[in-house]
Amino acid sequence: MDYRRREYLTTPMFGESIKIMLLGGGELGKEIAIEAQRLGVEVIVVDRYDWAPAMHVAHRRYVLDMLNANAVKAVVEREKPDVIIPEIEAVSYDALEDLESRGFMVIPNAKAVKIAMNRIELRKFAAEQLGLPTTRYAFAENPDEAVDACDKVGYPCLIKPEMSSSGHGHVKVFEPSPKLVKEAYEYAVTHSRGKSRRVIVEEFVQLETEFTVLTYRYVGDSGIATETCEPVEHWRYGKYHYIESWQPSTKPMDVLEKAREIGVKVANGLGGLGIFGVEIFLTKDGRILFSEVAPRPHDTGMVTMASQELSEFAIHVRAVLGLPVPRPRILSPAASIAIYAESDNVWAPKIKGVYEAMKINGVDLRVFGKPFTYKDRRMAVVLARGSSVEEALKKAREAVSHIVIE
Ligand SMILES: Nc1ncnc2c1ncn2[C@@H]1O[C@H](COP(=O)(O)OP(=O)(O)OP(=O)(O)O)[C@@H](O)[C@H]1O
Ligand SMILES: [Mg+2]
Repeated sequence: MDYRRREYLTTPMFGESIKIMLLGGGELGKEIAIEAQRLGVEVIVVDRYDWAPAMHVAHRRYVLDMLNANAVKAVVEREKPDVIIPEIEAVSYDALEDLESRGFMVIPNAKAVKIAMNRIELRKFAAEQLGLPTTRYAFAENPDEAVDACDKVGYPCLIKPEMSSSGHGHVKVFEPSPKLVKEAYEYAVTHSRGKSRRVIVEEFVQLETEFTVLTYRYVGDSGIATETCEPVEHWRYGKYHYIESWQPSTKPMDVLEKAREIGVKVANGLGGLGIFGVEIFLTKDGRILFSEVAPRPHDTGMVTMASQELSEFAIHVRAVLGLPVPRPRILSPAASIAIYAESDNVWAPKIKGVYEAMKINGVDLRVFGKPFTYKDRRMAVVLARGSSVEEALKKAREAVSHIVIE
């Protein structure tokens, strides 16, 4: 792919407009769309249900099954976008590869999308090809191999399906019991995306903290440049609930520097243009380990809407369009906490308590506009600025305590 700097922007909907197509229109896509709109770019959003968040801020929208290669190819042929941004993992890889081979620009590139969505390929790429530190691991594709893999890795360990997202199908195994391992293996593969029977078994590490190193590749003055943002630190409570993110991290500089180096190696290894959310563990015994990468803006990076001069979304849009991306300054320490629905099937739910929450100085809210809830669906995010990350987190927690989704 020939990556060039962009010399002009123009008007959407008329003449030779510049078009971005988002494959997946969730809350991250919505912010990407808003940033693109600000630059006069025409935005087309595709998702499997109507009025997904990004569709509310798009010029056109299409509802289709994005795992169906023909459907994806047909919509791309019809629209002929300048840039195709897969916003979720569940997009037909065959379609992306075919489109790229016919000259369409896929972000960051079809191969990177494929590696990043497959835990086994990603581990081989990171640990074996790039030589990055990771958790101990082994692969398995039947129950007996799973027993061997767990014994090799040691206990406790985690079994994860080859393909899935948001923690689906992850099972922790505490002890060397072939019966429990086989049950865990079956659970993992039945929660896999697609029909794969392959899993990765990972050493379960004690976490000190987690980072997302937002790393971006853009067209610089002398070829493609790779830069990192200040690492975002985050912590999860419970299974999916209350993921708190903050920036800047309060961990030592040398740790952050090593995390950034991993970010750069991963992004350069995958190539292409745009931002990558590189997930890194800091373990209690002091190891800095690559975990996984999203070749797109990252949910924990929503904090950058409050903390950085250019948010992760603004960076992504600039980068994929061939525009410059000066290293963004931190404007203020900030924190973010996502808000989840507690029940299923509430249409147009009410986000209550917003008056109390938004009264707090430095607190802001983003409502995603999802048409209906299901349990544990992310519906909104609280952003808070403070004089320190502690203060920002305190404000964000207070704001969240007022909010109820009904
Ligand atoms: N080997 C491990 N040891 C300890 N904790 C882990 C390990 N692997 C994953 N975790 C925990 O589970 C979380 C989710 O894991 P992972 O990122 O692999 O899953 P995912 O399906 O991609 O989820 P998400 O979409 O939320 O990132 C990690 O952020 C970390 O908190
Ligand atoms: Mg993850």
